[in-house]
Amino acid sequence: MLTIALPKGRIAEETLDIFSEIFGGDFKFESRKLIMEKGGFRFLNVRNQDVPTYVEYGSADLGVVGLDVITEKELDIIDMLDMQLGKCKVAIGIKNDDTLDWSRPDIKVATKMVNITRNYFASKAVGVEIIKLYGSIELAPLVGLADAIVDIVETGTTMKENGLKVAQDIMDSSAHLIANKNSFYSKKDAILDLYEKISDVVSSR
Ligand code: PRP
Repeated sequence: MLTIALPKGRIAEETLDIFSEIFGGDFKFESRKLIMEKGGFRFLNVRNQDVPTYVEYGSADLGVVGLDVITEKELDIIDMLDMQLGKCKVAIGIKNDDTLDWSRPDIKVATKMVNITRNYFASKAVGVEIIKLYGSIELAPLVGLADAIVDIVETGTTMKENGLKVAQDIMDSSAHLIANKNSFYSKKDAILDLYEKISDVVSSR
């Protein structure tokens, strides 16, 4: 049996829809249940940020998680497939009437993606002070906590409704299928079989 960690919400639903399409039947979590077994698979319903942890420790053989999370956590996992779900960008946001002054030595950036932010600004040889937040990142520039944010932009609505604009895109992200390294070797046939089926559905869309 393969255990697959899915991120609560839309990505989990869309991934389970792919399983329904491949194997038939209704793949769905019951309202508050965290484990679902169906069709020879066990699905775990976990927080987005926690998916790679379950996979890295081998409590799940496979997981579905955003490339932004994989990049941020610098994990020792196998990145198998871009599932083309949950497409978004990681971008720098600033207030509508601001410009980002790259020559300033002390730009303050609020984000939950500390590593992506540090690496991006280091690649531009720009020094930053990074302020770690856990959510509602768009608030930070509005109250003077930071000059800019680094955050996920999907529809752009959150930035727009808070008077912010994108100053610079950093990376594209989407949900990827990842595998635990040991599982990949010990359950190789089952994993590759599933990979091919998912890959066929994804590429036929
Ligand atoms: C994410 C992200 C932005 C928002 C972007 O937040 O951090 O705030 O979605 O989406 P949009 O461009 O479609 O408006 P999330 O909803 O995950 O909550 P958070 O603030 O707790 O991170």
